[in-house]
Amino acid sequence: MLSHAAILLGFGLVLQTSAFGIQFTSPTTCCSLLGTEFNGESKVFSVTSTEYGSLNTYWTPAAQQTPTCIFTPADTQDVSRAVKLFTRKNCQFAIRSGGHSYNPGWAGIVNGVLISLSDIDDVTYDSGTGLASVGAGSRWTNVYEALLPYNVTVLGGRNSNLGVGGYLTGGGISFYANERGWAADNIHSVEIVLAGGKVITASRTQHSELFRCIKGGSNNYGVITKFVLETIDASNPFNGFAVDFPPTSTDSLLAGAYNYCTGGSDADPKSHIIFAAAITGNLPYRDVLLMSYNGVFDTASSSPAIRPFFDGTIPGPTVRYFASNGTIKQATDRLSVIQAPGTRYTMGTLSIYADLELFKTLRSIWQEETTSTLRAKSGFMTEFAFQPVGSKWLASSAARGGNSMGITRPFVVVWVQPRWDLAVDDAEMVAYTDRVISRCEQAAKTANKFSKFKYLNYGGRNQEIITHYGAPSVLRMQINKLRYDPLNVFGRLVPGGFKIPGF
Ligand SMILES: Cc1cc2nc3c(=O)[nH]c(=O)nc-3n(C[C@H](O)[C@H](O)[C@H](O)COP(=O)(O)OP(=O)(O)OC[C@H]3O[C@@H](n4cnc5c(N)ncnc54)[C@H](O)[C@@H]3O)c2cc1C
Ligand SMILES: *[C@@H]1O[C@H](CO)[C@@H](O)[C@H](O)[C@H]1NC(C)=O
Ligand SMILES: *[C@@H]1O[C@H](CO)[C@@H](O)[C@H](O)[C@H]1NC(C)=O
Repeated sequence: MLSHAAILLGFGLVLQTSAFGIQFTSPTTCCSLLGTEFNGESKVFSVTSTEYGSLNTYWTPAAQQTPTCIFTPADTQDVSRAVKLFTRKNCQFAIRSGGHSYNPGWAGIVNGVLISLSDIDDVTYDSGTGLASVGAGSRWTNVYEALLPYNVTVLGGRNSNLGVGGYLTGGGISFYANERGWAADNIHSVEIVLAGGKVITASRTQHSELFRCIKGGSNNYGVITKFVLETIDASNPFNGFAVDFPPTSTDSLLAGAYNYCTGGSDADPKSHIIFAAAITGNLPYRDVLLMSYNGVFDTASSSPAIRPFFDGTIPGPTVRYFASNGTIKQATDRLSVIQAPGTRYTMGTLSIYADLELFKTLRSIWQEETTSTLRAKSGFMTEFAFQPVGSKWLASSAARGGNSMGITRPFVVVWVQPRWDLAVDDAEMVAYTDRVISRCEQAAKTANKFSKFKYLNYGGRNQEIITHYGAPSVLRMQINKLRYDPLNVFGRLVPGGFKIPGF
């Protein structure tokens, strides 16, 4: 905290902008001004319109909001006109791409306008440059589908129903991460609508500092309407599968996880593993590896880095394929069915440095906190997972110019994600999530294996994210905030999401 206070002292302006004290225009007035601006274009929908219900959907009903009206721009110019109006009139708004955020108010708003980007969803491919251009409101399933005829794909959601905009601005963990880094690192350029409505293109050669900031910068700089993405060859088959283990194998499985975290993912970067465990109701926990392989794959002939997960070294594996010698679209579509919309969820995250004893300790904390009272709640399920981020992943990030996240050495993303049925249980589930995270952080600190980084896309509603990118990164983000959004439109007028300290 001290270091951030120090940074902020250099920016009197920052403090002033957040203490501006300008009155917001009432959301009803904002919606009617927007209605006038887009008169006759059928792009502004009030609560009483027939379209509102189907437009007002979120992946989890736990994040459901009731915006005063919903705006569905058809293109960048529409977004620009709206942002200009919101800036001039001090109208509060939210930005939504796929609406997969777990946190209420991040991609929705109660008193304000929701910009839903879902109509900005064009996907095109330029075989000359090898770049794909993707509308920010697309879903990954459509992106994968449009690109597969060209035998290429992009780094996107492991669940194909995710939106492009939130995922990429939050970093993005894809099945190709060990080969190519964060999905955001594979952005070639963006088209972004800044405060006041100005539209610019940012890339490694144009507005390069802003470009770096938006990779992990969420909705703090503007509304991104288009992403131009580097592609990856998809002419080889793609395999996606889960491997289940009996509880008696947990200790050797965690030892295997440790090996994969500390070298395995670098030795075979075409592989990808999430080490997850789940508890459903009163049933015993289950260990489930979520895996993929980019290329022809067979358990019998797999590389030494991943063979222990199939050859009996860790006893009792059962493999379930989502895509066997198939495509990225098949695998991720299958996961979008398994993690279907419509159920209450929340999420929390921390990061650690790999350590076998700590893995065991964190798993015990998660089990202890998952009390019989919680397990008895209608529809209860909880997932706890380790996601290794290895050195090849980080080297790919660096080779592509880096991002906002400020990560310097391999680590492990940890998350807890409960699911339940009833709104009355929301607060208890959030408290449970916060408790698991806080105890795990404490244990990681005690073991001297704590990383302060927190992955934005898995951030819980009560967590600080951007602060933990570290002082140099936060400073860069603040400087560029002042340069590109000096009136803090995307902080003051867009209340939802993870914000830059001081804004
Ligand atoms: C079932 C499930 C599976 C997931 N799997 C993965 C995974 O494999 N890898 C991973 O990395 N993450 C994963 N996530 C997390 C996911 O990346 C985030 O939820 C992400 O925000 C989803 O993107 P979205 O466009 O749907 O987000 P939204 O909910 O639409 O938006 C999230 C945030 O981003 C902002 N935002 C959205 N679009 C824009 C834009 N165009 N310009 C500026 N700001 C914008 C919003 O204002 C909001 O604050 C998963 C989430 C779920 C629910
Ligand atoms: C894609 O790959 C398949 C199989 O390798 C091949 O038959 C096809 O011609 C390729 N398509 C393009 C557009 O390169
Ligand atoms: C994929 O194809 C290869 C070679 O054609 C085969 O040996 C292997 O068993 C297949 N894998 C799966 C999971 O079907």
